[in-house]
Amino acid sequence: MLVGIDIGGSTTDAVILDNGGVHVVTIEANDPIAAAAGALGKLVESCGLHLDRVERIAATGAGSRVLGETLLGRPVVKVNEFSAIGIGGTSLAARKKALVVSLGTGTAIVSVTGEKIEHVSGTGLGGGTLRGLSKHMLGVSTLETLEAMAARGDLSRVDLTVRDIAGGAIGDLPPGTTASNFGKVGADATADDKALAIMNMIVEVVSVLSIAAARACGQEDIVLTGKLTRIFRFMQRAKRLNFGFGRGFLIPEHADYATAIGAARAAMQ
Ligand SMILES: Nc1ncnc2c1ncn2[C@@H]1O[C@H](COP(=O)(O)OP(=O)(O)O)[C@@H](O)[C@H]1O
Ligand SMILES: [Mg+2]
Repeated sequence: MLVGIDIGGSTTDAVILDNGGVHVVTIEANDPIAAAAGALGKLVESCGLHLDRVERIAATGAGSRVLGETLLGRPVVKVNEFSAIGIGGTSLAARKKALVVSLGTGTAIVSVTGEKIEHVSGTGLGGGTLRGLSKHMLGVSTLETLEAMAARGDLSRVDLTVRDIAGGAIGDLPPGTTASNFGKVGADATADDKALAIMNMIVEVVSVLSIAAARACGQEDIVLTGKLTRIFRFMQRAKRLNFGFGRGFLIPEHADYATAIGAARAAMQ
């Protein structure tokens, strides 16, 4: 059996792909070797497998560069992270061609056209930003709390809209368009309002960047992967997305572990 491991900036995922099924574990650990060994151990334990059944480990992510040729005695092959993102996103979405946006600690944007996988854009705005700003501004360190707060939030006390500055539409920009994230935050803004505004800023910036990259690369489908997809799902459920998000964007099943899945698939090819 082949195990895919993604040692990321926030979490380490380990997956086994088995007859179309996906077994996955996620752990958080600071040391990349401890993270990889821990994730591998937890995966084989939770699947009731013996370590000897693991023929190879396909490792990717920022932490994978410190791994040696073996992990717990099993051979390791390194997979380029952008390849793992591209293969993971397109295989889960069943597309040959797509823009894959990895929403992790930071954001990486990869264009896939058949065999060609190209890292085309990205931003440091991502899951680390969400956690950092939530902790610093609100003293909140779990996504559950942040979501509960955001569900009660009101953006009109934080974000400046086109309507606020122009009284109506500006050309093709509808009145509700954000003119400036946090541009109107005043003393009356509550912690709930700010929680929503932090999430909204990240979702808006990443979406706008993704749409621009898709246009530049001639891509129609934008596949979102990584654990920060959670806030896109939240904003969708809460009906807080006030732009044409639906068009072209998709979040496939297992999107949270797409990069580890992509590493395993890349090593099978
Ligand atoms: N269960 C979770 N554990 C940790 N981070 C999570 C979780 N769910 C969502 N997140 C968010 O996702 C980000 C990490 O995403 P992930 O895909 O694991 O990135 P990376 O591969 O860079 O570690 C965190 O910064 C956090 O904002
Ligand atoms: Mg990751």
